[in-house]
Amino acid sequence: MSRNIVLSVLATAAITTIAVELYHKYVTPTTTSHKLIKTSQNSQPKQHSEELIREQLARNYAFLTEDGMTKVRNQRIIVVGAGGVGSWVATMLARSGVENLRIIDFDQVSLSSLNRHSVATLADVGISKVDCLKNHLLKIVPWINIDVHNKLWNLESAEELLDFNPTYVIDCIDNFDTKCDLLTYCYNKKIPVVSSGGAATKSDPTRINISDISKTEEDPLCKKLRIVLRKRGIIEGIPMIFSAEKPDPRKAKLLPLANDEIKKGDVDQLSALRDFRVRILPVLGTMPGMFGLAIASYVLAKVSDYPIEPIEGKNRYKLYDDLLQSIAGQQTRIGKTDQRVQISMLDVIYLLEDVFRGKSPISNYSTRLTLSRWDSTKEISLQNVVIMTKEEQKLHEKRVLIGGEPLEVVYPREVIELVNKRFKDEAYFSQFR
Ligand SMILES: *[C@@H]1O[C@H](CO)[C@@H](O)[C@H](O)[C@H]1NC(C)=O
Ligand SMILES: *[C@@H]1O[C@H](CO)[C@@H](O)[C@H](O)[C@H]1NC(C)=O
Repeated sequence: MSRNIVLSVLATAAITTIAVELYHKYVTPTTTSHKLIKTSQNSQPKQHSEELIREQLARNYAFLTEDGMTKVRNQRIIVVGAGGVGSWVATMLARSGVENLRIIDFDQVSLSSLNRHSVATLADVGISKVDCLKNHLLKIVPWINIDVHNKLWNLESAEELLDFNPTYVIDCIDNFDTKCDLLTYCYNKKIPVVSSGGAATKSDPTRINISDISKTEEDPLCKKLRIVLRKRGIIEGIPMIFSAEKPDPRKAKLLPLANDEIKKGDVDQLSALRDFRVRILPVLGTMPGMFGLAIASYVLAKVSDYPIEPIEGKNRYKLYDDLLQSIAGQQTRIGKTDQRVQISMLDVIYLLEDVFRGKSPISNYSTRLTLSRWDSTKEISLQNVVIMTKEEQKLHEKRVLIGGEPLEVVYPREVIELVNKRFKDEAYFSQFR
């Protein structure tokens, strides 16, 4: 055996001995000169040695520094939703030193959740998800103040359940309406919030992303959130974790509900917008965990002022305004000044970002964009305007809107089909607006 191996074996043995000692010291505080801190999650306050806590968090202290760790330890974080994503968030925040955690979830651990949960064992099946986490976390970080609520968060329970002076709320809810309400609530109350998109059907770790909600793509849950939140005046300002992995016919998909009227072909994009909870979603267990770990990393960096790329919204108000002006200008050019343009700024954002996905259906270009009436025989409506480039608009006006040529003569069949598909999508999304 080389000298290095001998040393490393000795070191490992020493660490094991220390660890066993440490565990007993946490549980049975000594009367030595260790500085003691009190926690009060039970009726009898336990005392924990500060020196041992620092030893357990030594790597984090080395990383985030004394200052950063003081901030981390003083956080008061609420995790709403303690499933595949939330269990990892709570576990890693606790392991990383956050001392005040509130966890809210109404549900119980089920056998099928063991493919993705951070700590649940077979013995936990049937107990509440929040108690499961509390029991396990107290074995890892016995000094933390962990306060759990086996309740459904909703607008009625909002005040009571968020009454914790939170420094951060982490949304790991999978029910659409509740999620939307939690985000609206935190946004309006200016409570920092981070939210998790959908991990179901996703499998590519390289596409996991954290961005402002206005920049999310390829996640039907985020898309529906954008549309509904905008109606409540929230356009950007909520960081989301999501996967930008594109759907692929060879990959797992969301199955339509029984009795669902959605026709085959629309399923990939649209069925995901239906109720999320009633179906068995295909979930690769690693993905929710990675979402949770990404959120925990992001929050730890944020709260400790560790350098991290800022998350900014699209901030495309100038473009939205230009688009609105462009269709009004077109009405003047084609001599239809009597017809008021019944399209608002929110409509423009929705059309550009959600219906047309930021690009012209004619060329796929995404710069020098305008908004243009499509079929000259129909009134302007959300299903008769198209995002196109300035050059395309000029040609469209000359040939279609003024020249009166049929769309079929001017555009290839694929373009007309794509535009009609976008109008059909709009008809579907409009029910959420
Ligand atoms: C994801 O993150 C990167 C930045 O790291 C960004 O450039 C990219 O456009 C993001 N969004 C999507 C939808 O992939
Ligand atoms: C635009 O992109 C789609 C795929 O997203 C493709 O099917 C279509 O042919 C593209 N159109 C042009 C004009 O490049």
